[in-house]
Amino acid sequence: MITLAVETSCDETALCLYSEEGVIGDILLSQAELHSIYGGVVPELSAREHTKNILPLLDSLLSSSGFHELNKVDFVSFTLTPGLILSLVVGVSFAKAVGFFLKKPIVPVHHLEGHIYSVFLEREIPYPFISLVVSGGHTDLYLVEGFGKYTFLGGTLDDAVGESYDKVASMLGLGYPGGPVLDRMARKGEDKFQLPRPMLGSDDLNFSFSGLKTAVKKLIRENPDAKKEDIACSFQEAVVDILYAKVNRAIKDLGVNRVSVVGGVSANSRLREVFTEEFSKKGVEVFIPPVKLSTDNALMIAYAGMLRFKRGITAPMDVNPEPNQPLEEFGKIWS
Ligand code: KG4
Ligand code: ZN
Repeated sequence: MITLAVETSCDETALCLYSEEGVIGDILLSQAELHSIYGGVVPELSAREHTKNILPLLDSLLSSSGFHELNKVDFVSFTLTPGLILSLVVGVSFAKAVGFFLKKPIVPVHHLEGHIYSVFLEREIPYPFISLVVSGGHTDLYLVEGFGKYTFLGGTLDDAVGESYDKVASMLGLGYPGGPVLDRMARKGEDKFQLPRPMLGSDDLNFSFSGLKTAVKKLIRENPDAKKEDIACSFQEAVVDILYAKVNRAIKDLGVNRVSVVGGVSANSRLREVFTEEFSKKGVEVFIPPVKLSTDNALMIAYAGMLRFKRGITAPMDVNPEPNQPLEEFGKIWS
């Protein structure tokens, strides 16, 4: 069984050809440089770029993989939700067009479901497990009890953690996306400044990052001579502390000893280090995808699409993308 998968929910145009035996071909075009001058993703520009690039990218995928018989594709997997609506429209329209042309079904995937299953491309996680999804748009905790069986445990009440990284990086003049640069810079600094850890001790599994961002802003204003490396390090320590504390609480509350960390921010070196070291001491198994699969890609969409197709689930040709359908709801609808 072979699927062609497409992901266009934000600023990456990604395609992949995937079979049950493994990856046939995989291609990704990042628009990050284009958006960096604006300090963040410009939705209209993102959709235009996807439209311009998606067909040439399919040609490149076919030639680089040496896979020329598109009619051997059994179904097309695509990101239906959540994401920038204009960008999603491009990927969904592409999936419909290819499906119509090949007379093959189309299979919807939730972007966060894709992230959750990114780990499975290397190693399957036994159910149940807790998943922390940390990306540019989300900071969510889920209990995953099976494919499509997701329970929302808590999430951010304001900014997503990736968004906070990008905003703090922008305050430090580091460009967009700021996460990877800030991460590298933090490694060279010291945790010199005591920054707040909002909601660290709250009696729930929710997060809040806007207060931390404001505290960094104040710190920069009041300490013009402070080293950027030290500010980055103090911010990163606060973020990792908060994420670790909430996951630890979820593990205790639910009595589930397996946790995955997925999404763009799971590429963070300090987060990987702390989660792996601290949880292994407690006998908790930690699963984190390789860096290449942490950030947006089409492979994770292909993998989740394959699981859904095997359950006989396909979408009608008049399906429309949704900017923000909750994962829990999606899991119930497409089951
Ligand atoms: O999952 P993703 O590629 O796209 C969304 O679905 O949002 O996540 C992108 C986010 C960006 O905010 C980026 O700054 C952040 O992930 N990110 C990182 C790192 N690499 C990417 N944040 C912290 N440390 C990193 N190494
Ligand atoms: Zn993502």
